[in-house]
Amino acid sequence: MKILVLHGPNLNMLGKREPGIYGSQTLEDINHSLEDLAKELGCELSSLQSNTEGELIDAIQAAAEDCHGMLINPAAYTHTSIAIRDAVAAVGLPCVEVHLSNIHSRETFRHTSMIAPVAIGQICGFGRDSYLLGLRALFNSIKNK
Ligand code: DQA
Repeated sequence: MKILVLHGPNLNMLGKREPGIYGSQTLEDINHSLEDLAKELGCELSSLQSNTEGELIDAIQAAAEDCHGMLINPAAYTHTSIAIRDAVAAVGLPCVEVHLSNIHSRETFRHTSMIAPVAIGQICGFGRDSYLLGLRALFNSIKNK
């Protein structure tokens, strides 16, 4: 089983970026933890961080060729990108949306997700664990289908 892990804009700055909200872990730390879990579960990951909407869309479209599911933190595009939502819907792969912070307890503009309606689920508010819980949930959901 192969899973695409996508990190949206500004997540390359984790560790330095608003640590009171996003924690002190870097994106590299998160990717390492995901790799460890993937090994334990027995799946393969392909990870990409991009600050560009089109690049994220290209990766989603390419995933249709060789991936079984997608774990996505669309970052700020969560709240704005109909194009990413359409790409997720177009490829039809199971997608889990994750966020480090609890978007529902923050500014009202973060309460809306364009992606959630086309995802199988959303996990937010648990820092790095959001990603790990998301990977487990996605893996189980694909396996039990
Ligand atoms: C985020 C939440 C978004 O609202 C924000 O724009 C991000 C990070 C999170 O992981 O908590 O960049 O997706």
